[in-house]
Amino acid sequence: MPPLDVLLPAPRRIDPDRREEALAALYAYPASGRGPVMVRANMVASVDGAAWGADHRSGSINDDADWRVFRVLRALADVVVVGAGTARAEGYTALDRPRGLDHLRDAPLELALVSRTGSVPAALVAADRPPFLLTGRAGADAARAVLPADRVLVADDDGAVDLAGALAALARRGLTRVLAEGGPTLLGALLRDDLVDELCVTTSPTVVGRGPGRIVAGSDPDRPGGRAGRPGPAHPHGARLAHLLHGPQDRPGSPAGTTLARWLVPLG
Ligand SMILES: NC(=O)c1ccc[n+]([C@@H]2O[C@H](COP(=O)([O-])OP(=O)(O)OC[C@H]3O[C@@H](n4cnc5c(N)ncnc54)[C@H](OP(=O)(O)O)[C@@H]3O)[C@@H](O)[C@H]2O)c1
Repeated sequence: MPPLDVLLPAPRRIDPDRREEALAALYAYPASGRGPVMVRANMVASVDGAAWGADHRSGSINDDADWRVFRVLRALADVVVVGAGTARAEGYTALDRPRGLDHLRDAPLELALVSRTGSVPAALVAADRPPFLLTGRAGADAARAVLPADRVLVADDDGAVDLAGALAALARRGLTRVLAEGGPTLLGALLRDDLVDELCVTTSPTVVGRGPGRIVAGSDPDRPGGRAGRPGPAHPHGARLAHLLHGPQDRPGSPAGTTLARWLVPLG
C-alpha cells in the first residue's frame, strides 16, 4: 500500500499501516448528522471525468491509493448501498469487513442493493448472508421470490423507490452508517433527494477520453420534481472540503498524483 500525504487541513504523511488507525480517524463518521442516517458516497473518476474505463468497470481507473481508502471506508460503515447496475457490472458478491480491519467495527458489514425491478444477481441470491434489496412496489414480488422476506425492504413513492424511506428502513435495523458506492444513477437519485451528507471523490491519474459517463447520471423524466421538489436538471449548491489526500508516485514512470477529497455536502 502507498503512503498518503494529507495536503489539507494540515500537511503530514500517513504511512502504510496494517491497522489504518490514522486513516480511520480522518474518515470517522460524525457522532450525529442531519438525521439518524449518515450517507457517505465514495466514487472514483479519471482526470477527464470518466466513471469507468474501457472494460466498463471502475477498477480499471483506480489504483492502490484509492484502494487503501476504499478499504477503510468499508471498514467504518454499517452497510454498503449500491445500485443493482453496479452490482451486476462489478460482480458484487457478499461483503465482509476488509481483511485485517475488523477491529475498526465489529458488526458484520451488510450490503443493500437498490433496484426498481427487484432483480438480484445470482451470486448474491446464493450468498450465505443475502443482501438487503431496497425496492418499490414494482420490484417487491420479484425480490421476494429469491430473497428471504426480511431482506426485502419496500419503500414506494408513486411507483419509484423511495430512497429516504429505504434508508429509514435500514436505520430501523441499526444500519445508520451508510456507504454508497454508486453507481452514477443511484448517486444522481441520492443527490436529487438531498440524501448525501458526504461525497468522497478520488481523482485517478488517468485520462480516458470519450465514451464513459461521469459519476452522476439520470434525469428522471418521469419524476421531474423528485422528493425535494426540484427540477430534473442539476441544481448546483456549495460543498465544503473536509480534507484532501494525495498519493505520491510509487514507481518511477508510473502515473502519479492521485487525489482523494472528502467533501461535506450541505442540504441544498
Ligand atoms: N466511478 C465509480 O466510482 C463507480 C462506482 C460504481 C459504479 N461505477 C460504474 O458505473 C456503471 C454502472 O452505472 P449505473 O448508473 O447503471 O449504475 P447503478 O446506479 O448502480 O445502476 C443502475 C440500476 O440500479 C438500480 N437503481 C439505481 N438507482 C435507482 C433508484 N433511484 N431507484 C430504483 N432503482 C435504482 C436500477 O436497477 P434495476 O434495473 O434492477 O431496476 C438501475 O437500472 C458501471 O460501469 C460501473 O462500473 C463507477
